[in-house]
Amino acid sequence: MTYIQEKQINDNPAFNKEDWASAYKNVEKELTNEPLNISKGGNIGELNGTLFRNGPGILERGGQWVHHPFDGDGMITAIRFENGKPSLTNKFVQTKGFLEEKKINKFIYRGVFGTQKSGGILNNALDLKFKNIANTHVIKLGNEVLALWEAAGPHALDPNNLDTIGLTTLGGVLKSNEAFSAHPKSDFNSNMSSELLVTFGIQTGPKSTIRLMEFSNAGENAGELIIDRKDTFNGFAFLHDFAITTNWAIFLQNAIDFNPLPFVMGQKGAAQCLKSNPNKKAKFFIIPRESGVFKGQPPIIIDAPDGFVFHHVNAYEKDSKIILDSIFYDDFPSVGPDENFRDIDFDNYPEGNLKRSIIDLKGGTSKLETLSSQCCEFATVNPKLLGLKASYSWMACTDKKIGNAPLQAIKKINLITKEEISWSAAPSGFVSEPIMVPSQSSNKEDEGYLFILLWNGSRRGSDLVILDAKDLKELAIYELPISIPHGLHGSWVNN
Ligand code: CO
Repeated sequence: MTYIQEKQINDNPAFNKEDWASAYKNVEKELTNEPLNISKGGNIGELNGTLFRNGPGILERGGQWVHHPFDGDGMITAIRFENGKPSLTNKFVQTKGFLEEKKINKFIYRGVFGTQKSGGILNNALDLKFKNIANTHVIKLGNEVLALWEAAGPHALDPNNLDTIGLTTLGGVLKSNEAFSAHPKSDFNSNMSSELLVTFGIQTGPKSTIRLMEFSNAGENAGELIIDRKDTFNGFAFLHDFAITTNWAIFLQNAIDFNPLPFVMGQKGAAQCLKSNPNKKAKFFIIPRESGVFKGQPPIIIDAPDGFVFHHVNAYEKDSKIILDSIFYDDFPSVGPDENFRDIDFDNYPEGNLKRSIIDLKGGTSKLETLSSQCCEFATVNPKLLGLKASYSWMACTDKKIGNAPLQAIKKINLITKEEISWSAAPSGFVSEPIMVPSQSSNKEDEGYLFILLWNGSRRGSDLVILDAKDLKELAIYELPISIPHGLHGSWVNN
């Protein structure tokens, strides 16, 4: 495949929707330690570690499609590098619901994003059970790899062969099936441990409780919970992600309402019952970290800018302010009950833009600046700088500069000068979240590698692309022996 490096200068679609939609199909096989063939570039000798990725791997059963890919059962891909030579292992997470549905090849649970059981509204009404689909993120905590889905507990996997060990309480930390966010943060800058894993769980209702947990993730007590606090806020809270600084955990509560009636009546999935409320104000919940200097103090609540956020990029402290970069949408993007997710009109959906909130903790106010108005998602910084001021961010973005479209390019932005460079896989390539792995041999912030799982629409298969983080030059492209649908999050673990 030839990648087009030049930037598109017009707004005509530079993609074929069939190429894009062709990624949405079931993953057909599970492989173990399959060596990968390089199709371009050369192996990178200094790579010793594993790239873990999660995403939906089952999108159809017995002729019925999920209503939204976020309802698909989780499938983990692990690409292990030994002195630069990669091999691939992939397995479905053997959740209870996956095993039950696999046996009869039929969906027997409703999906949060609108997948219905067969039999129409009557068969779905009053059925509020859902399955833990373990499809959102995959991380290593202590000696275990965890497949995460935010509304329920994590599934532990064997790090070597990805066999499912089962739902875990993390040694009694979690109650049975207690919610555990799909967006943990690794903090390499704490004085409590050389690596902390900071995460949260939310119990929501008329009041919402955030449980903030910090685990050691290095040394002898790796995997141990060392900090635990709970704070309760008024109102329903929908929190997918958060951000950390040295002393704070920052949550953005979007101004949305949850009207459960259509869900209870069997007409909609639970997430389709979320709706922006223009009369409501979004809020920042800013919780002191118990590993920081404000430990023991109550949270600070500050009005937040309008818009909807799934993902934050990074945050840092500056005097008495918090600077928070996030991907903002004008509204909550939802696939309605009568729409087909494989044939959506991108122009009708809100696009993500990189914006910066400047939160004044003393004045109790916040303001918003736009860093880039090109549609983007899945932005990251050098992981060593999470919680500190970073100069660079990498993200997935559209090939065109204006308007919504599938994510086909990777962009590096200088967060100080706003200079940008990009690499594009248009017209037939479609990118996913770039994972930045710092170089072992350099301390420069932008020296390292970007790992991207790419849907190669020309050959209707998946590629692994490794770019140089500094200049976005292609270093290596591997053709993968499995086809992986457009996925969600992942992480890198050094050997
Ligand atoms: Co996410």
